[in-house]
Amino acid sequence: MYSRIVGTGSYLPRKILTNRDLEKLVDTSHEWIVTRTGIEERRIADEDQKASDLAMEASRAALEAAGIRPNDLGLIVVATTTPDQVFPSTACVLQAKLGVENACPAFDVQAVCGGFVYALALADLYMRAGKCRHALVVGSEIYSRILDWTDRSTCVLFGDGAGAVVLAADDTPGILAHRLHADGRHSGSLMVPGQICGGRVSGRPYVVMEGGAVFKFAVKALGDIVEETLAEVAMKPEELDWLIPHQANIRIIQATAKRLGLPMERVVVTVDKHGNTSAASIPLALDIAVRDGRVRRGQHVVLEGIGGGFTWGAVLIRW
Ligand code: COA
Repeated sequence: MYSRIVGTGSYLPRKILTNRDLEKLVDTSHEWIVTRTGIEERRIADEDQKASDLAMEASRAALEAAGIRPNDLGLIVVATTTPDQVFPSTACVLQAKLGVENACPAFDVQAVCGGFVYALALADLYMRAGKCRHALVVGSEIYSRILDWTDRSTCVLFGDGAGAVVLAADDTPGILAHRLHADGRHSGSLMVPGQICGGRVSGRPYVVMEGGAVFKFAVKALGDIVEETLAEVAMKPEELDWLIPHQANIRIIQATAKRLGLPMERVVVTVDKHGNTSAASIPLALDIAVRDGRVRRGQHVVLEGIGGGFTWGAVLIRW
């Protein structure tokens, strides 16, 4: 038995934060941000919204697109770095909010911006093992809560949002291949070092990043991981219809596309409007490209991402 994506959904909070708005908060400019990152604006969740709320909206849209009832789900995986709380997992909270009463397994995956490809690969393996017929895989993030809004080198980069996919068991494979990697020796390059300790936050509870080091590592790792994944099914980059990369920075996206010999016309870009929504960015971009008709049945699509850890991975899909 194989797995296939049969529905996608996404959710963006209403509040838009533009680069011009950021000019009023920190010493930056619209021109600097656009030139270095490609980002023009990002969304910010309301104070009373949690990651599970964003996930719920995206999941409902994906379930509706798939024509699947919540109680048909046999697995719920949420990729998030900004969970509702320490525990229970955001996936368990989401399960209850969706009204799933069948006691299917639900858990979070913490692989930062690599989280969605990790979660999708795990769900595919679970379904290939014949454990369930429908799975929900979600990326949901509220990075605005872990940004130091006085640190111009990080606060301009991220945004909030959620994306979801529904997988169904199928006789023919929709998910063709995946590869995952991690290298914890680089954990200091991109982190939120804070933790709850004795009832207080100990350490810095904000994103800390060595931007240049992340950039350099990402460009090489993402090119390599796409080639490795395609090699599993003896495909070449030029046979790809779409590259849907993690949306961190337009320059990383362009460098990866160039390395793979793919024109930007075959790359889905949303970073300009969403910023980096971490684990949510890939399913958000996928949903947008599916709904606007760019991604069509039968096409080959690679999803790839990298995040703190470092973690990185790619998933090849025949849509
Ligand atoms: N506005 C204006 N100036 C800024 C700024 C901002 N928002 N943020 C940093 N700067 C300044 C720096 O202080 C530095 O000034 P200095 O030369 O006087 O010290 C200058 O801009 C250049 O900084 P630099 O780090 O060399 O810029 P860069 O071209 O490497 O771009 C990033 C910085 C962060 C955009 C880039 O390194 C990057 O995208 N890295 C990857 C980040 C990422 O994708 N992380 C998530 C991965 S999942």
